Amino acid sequence: MIINTRVIEFSCHSDEYGSLVALESNRDIPFSTKRVYYIYEVDELMRRGFHSHNDLEQVMICVHGSVKILLKTPFEEEVITLNDPTQGLYVGPMVWREMFDWQQDAVLLVLASEYYDENDYIRNYEEYEIMARKHFRGSGV
Ligand code: TYD
Repeated sequence: MIINTRVIEFSCHSDEYGSLVALESNRDIPFSTKRVYYIYEVDELMRRGFHSHNDLEQVMICVHGSVKILLKTPFEEEVITLNDPTQGLYVGPMVWREMFDWQQDAVLLVLASEYYDENDYIRNYEEYEIMARKHFRGSGV
């Protein structure tokens, strides 16, 4: 996986009544969750995201359906398919992300380490690339 990202496997309580996943801050989720949002009713051909964050940490979970996430830095890129409610995609600071190929009424649940702050967004890719090269300099990537 690319720097500042990883897939987290959650425990699932499944029985004949169905399935349940519980997410606890600083246990299953590697930060204190301050905000939860979900994205749904997205057209299959729609591409969203197109940004990075300076400091924010997030865990993305596709709780229904399937969606692809492009993760990108100036040095590497990867596409992760999220289609399993028992898996979370951790995305840390300074990673560019785009969400696409929304299938079967996908619902993407996102847990975030901070309240919404537009100032933490980097929405221009050229600007992101310059900042990310500085940020990751000396980190071995
Ligand atoms: P945006 O960040 O553009 O979504 P995406 O990156 O998935 O394409 O957010 C869409 C709108 O929702 C925008 O007007 C900002 C607002 N918003 C909030 O008010 N709070 C939030 O926590 C988030 C993530 C977005």
